[in-house]
Amino acid sequence: MELITTIADLQARLNTARESQQTIGLVPTMGALHQGHASLVERSLRENDVTVVSIFVNPTQFNNKQDLATYPRTLEADRALLDTLGATYVFAPSVEEIYPEEDTRMFSYPPVDTVMEGERRPGHFNGVCQIVSKLFAITRPHRAYFGEKDFQQIAVIRQMVKAEGFNLEVVACPIVRETSGLALSSRNQLMTAQERNLAVNISRILFVSLEYAKSHTIIETQDFVVSTLNSLEGLEVEYFQIVDGYTLQPVTSWDSASYIVGCITVFCGATPIRLIDNVCYIKH
Ligand code: PAF
Repeated sequence: MELITTIADLQARLNTARESQQTIGLVPTMGALHQGHASLVERSLRENDVTVVSIFVNPTQFNNKQDLATYPRTLEADRALLDTLGATYVFAPSVEEIYPEEDTRMFSYPPVDTVMEGERRPGHFNGVCQIVSKLFAITRPHRAYFGEKDFQQIAVIRQMVKAEGFNLEVVACPIVRETSGLALSSRNQLMTAQERNLAVNISRILFVSLEYAKSHTIIETQDFVVSTLNSLEGLEVEYFQIVDGYTLQPVTSWDSASYIVGCITVFCGATPIRLIDNVCYIKH
């Protein structure tokens, strides 16, 4: 596996690959890689001739400076994991390489980007679209792989791909969980053992709610999840919304959509760490 830090070097390699009809898979990441990322890389390796994994902590998607400063950075360990997996290239550019000047482009895809995370993290999805569109333009991949833990992010990226006319397939990959059920996240590394034990309750209650939902309304299910988690000291639900999995708009009854997903954000512990997760109630 080769480490590449400049756009020109990466494009030279990928042009050669394209000339020999090779397909290119892109796995965009912010590093601090875990088995969730590994599952994306493995899928890309199965489906493409060349797999590029980008590692770039994108400053424009952080609406909180402290969050950007404390985001885990573990390039050496990331490279070792990608080497073991057999990724073709790791692209780890500097901020100056990606943003030689301020990116003032605005991306707006209401209502998909205005609800949930969009409402609570102003500018976040704009920053995600800035970096992901740059990575797409640089690598021109045939397929790009994203984890469903960031459920809304995938919906926003799909809108951006359509609006910008990118000719590629967005591949959504299932959430990878610890045996405890906790969804894997780079932010998990920031938690103490005690906080992790607390965080396990998020997926536990979401899974319990799948059964609860069979005999309760949407409002009752939402209330059940929020009140059960809030009753645990150290957990505070920011939002839990049961939405149409395509439009991300709230649904009011279980038969009003063919794809229904519950999306949650919870503050965990004293720091606190902001964790997100989701479960699918219905998919026909
Ligand atoms: O999901 C992430 O890690 C980031 O939002 C992404 C897609 C790599 C863009 O920086």
